[in-house]
Amino acid sequence: MKNKILAPSILTADFSNLSQQVRAVELGGADWIHCDIMDGQFVPNMTFGPIVLQAIRKSTKLPIDAHLMIKTPDNLIEDFIKAGANYVTVHQEEVVHLHRTLTRIHDLGAKAGVAVNPATPVASLTEVLSIVDMILVMSVNPGFGGQKFIESSIRKIKELDQLRTDNNYKYLIQVDGGIGLDNIRTVSDAGCNSFVIGNSIFKNDNITAATVEFKNILS
Ligand code: DX5
Ligand code: ZN
Repeated sequence: MKNKILAPSILTADFSNLSQQVRAVELGGADWIHCDIMDGQFVPNMTFGPIVLQAIRKSTKLPIDAHLMIKTPDNLIEDFIKAGANYVTVHQEEVVHLHRTLTRIHDLGAKAGVAVNPATPVASLTEVLSIVDMILVMSVNPGFGGQKFIESSIRKIKELDQLRTDNNYKYLIQVDGGIGLDNIRTVSDAGCNSFVIGNSIFKNDNITAATVEFKNILS
């Protein structure tokens, strides 16, 4: 299967042993490491800043995918890229000048992504589809791992896949939240390229084996 990227989210990893957890998914064939950045303002939870991403950068060669669930992301984009983020995804709901922000991420040398929450329509992205590297379809309301997959996300993935085909756009479609063995094939068939998986990997006794299982489904 072409272009099916497994991006384990460390949100539900054991933070007292983070480099070992990252190595465990890397051993299982993970393609990216997804970092959920939360500020307790944009979402009702708080995680970490550039300093922890920098520590993760030291423990893996994999691309790091920073999902900024923060208010005023423009203030921290450069810090996350300097810390080692390869992809930087901002939330459409939180950026006033989205075209300028995405262009700035490119100018700073990273790939630019934009995320849409379950209540935000794909149509809100029309004017940036030609410049963005990745669209993140949130299949849960952001802030926490282990939530239930919101089924209407499938329609949004299909809509983005059709737009990409019709206009020869190049963006990746990423899906984040509630992905497990029960729905990953449906999400993939809808057109998803990058699969963010937290609980279904890190809540297993054998993280590497869980990663291998998802990798096998995607290959
Ligand atoms: C929500 C987070 C989570 C996380 C994945 O804000 O973005 O979606 O990455 O969580 P799981 O796979 O546990 O639903
Ligand atoms: Zn995320």
